[in-house]
Amino acid sequence: MTEQQKKQLIREALLARENSYSPYSGYRVGAALLAEDGRIFRGCNIENAAYTPTNCAERTAVFKAVSEGCRTFQAIAVVGGKEEKPSGDYAYPCGVCRQVLREFVEVSQFVVICARSEEDYREWTLGELLPESFGPAQLA
Ligand code: THU
Repeated sequence: MTEQQKKQLIREALLARENSYSPYSGYRVGAALLAEDGRIFRGCNIENAAYTPTNCAERTAVFKAVSEGCRTFQAIAVVGGKEEKPSGDYAYPCGVCRQVLREFVEVSQFVVICARSEEDYREWTLGELLPESFGPAQLA
């Protein structure tokens, strides 16, 4: 991925965050998932009064893509933080979202970008964030 592609993905995640529905935690998250074919799927966290039905931003993006027939991905950018503040810290994908991503990607290739801004971000492969993971091959 080029530097420009990473910055664009972060911009998309920041836009996705604007739609965050998070009245209970006040923690607003946006994600942008880059498909192999160049399409970008945005997702935000969507909370619920019953709490447990809450969906994370990353899973919203994955489920949007998969439900549109897209299952091959290159990278995801994630931004988050309390309320309207620009992210004070990096927002890391939770364990459940790492596992959901793992279902559809090659963990040594797929890139996870956690950003505070277009200029300030960290990146890993999914394999680094979810080592020794359980996946489809175990059930084949
Ligand atoms: N959240 C995400 O959207 N992604 C994560 O990976 C971690 C947590 C959301 C869920 C909930 O709406 C809020 O952040 C606080 O947990």
